[in-house]
Amino acid sequence: MTDPTPASADADASDLPRHIAIVMDGNGRWAQRRGRPRTFGHRAGAKTVRLCVRLCLERHIPALTLFAFSSENWKRPREEVGALMSLFMRSLDREVDELHEHGVRLRFIGERADLSPAIRKRMELGERRTAANTALQLTVAISYGGRWDIAQAARQLAQEAAAGRLDPAAIDEAAVAQRMALAELPPPDLFIRTGGDRRISNFLLWQLAYAELWFTDTLWPDFSATDMQHALDDFARRERRFGLTGAQCASGRSLRG
Ligand code: FPP
Repeated sequence: MTDPTPASADADASDLPRHIAIVMDGNGRWAQRRGRPRTFGHRAGAKTVRLCVRLCLERHIPALTLFAFSSENWKRPREEVGALMSLFMRSLDREVDELHEHGVRLRFIGERADLSPAIRKRMELGERRTAANTALQLTVAISYGGRWDIAQAARQLAQEAAAGRLDPAAIDEAAVAQRMALAELPPPDLFIRTGGDRRISNFLLWQLAYAELWFTDTLWPDFSATDMQHALDDFARRERRFGLTGAQCASGRSLRG
């Protein structure tokens, strides 16, 4: 994580996203094009994860959230699911020390009950070890789905109401948001998806409400510092109105949530 990557003249610090969310798609195709098994692509994809962490640290982008394994990915062939779980485990064993040295706080979102005790233990250790770090908030979504997230927030609200701790009439957007994953982070400003498809695929459905969407045909293992810079430059050129008029935005109202 050492070589500095030159920033383009296009984006200055105030134009940078505070939070980037990424759907890392295309590992399987990348491997198949090389005549290799899909798991080869996932291993190559893990290297791109390291690159993105480094780029966020260099550019002082405070939060990065990665979609590593969706609620639906459990339906993939058993060998692929097993290989991905082993890769997560090995990555946790290998990377947590270095993330910690660089001041990265690591957290996970998703249905932990679906995961093996061995992975859960490593996730908890990684979270505890890095809990006080502030350079980058890195969140990895594993066994995560946006619909699952909304359902778990609704369940919490219902339980609190049933226990008499919450008045149902007081349930508003803020009350829901507080119970969603990533509640303590600013919502993602920039959503990146590699691999050519133009969809959100049940990622952060609630949290992406006002994110700028950026898509590339580049497959995740090939995603480079240059691709990231293109995404940041494009983001810097977007006019974010959050439901206001262009004139209101031009008059300088603060739009960041
Ligand atoms: C989607 O590509 C990718 C995944 C389902 C797995 C993502 C996992 C990694 C990048 C590995 C490392 C991650 C961490 C956090 C250590 P795909 O398999 O759907 O590719 P395809 O669309 O070409 O089939």
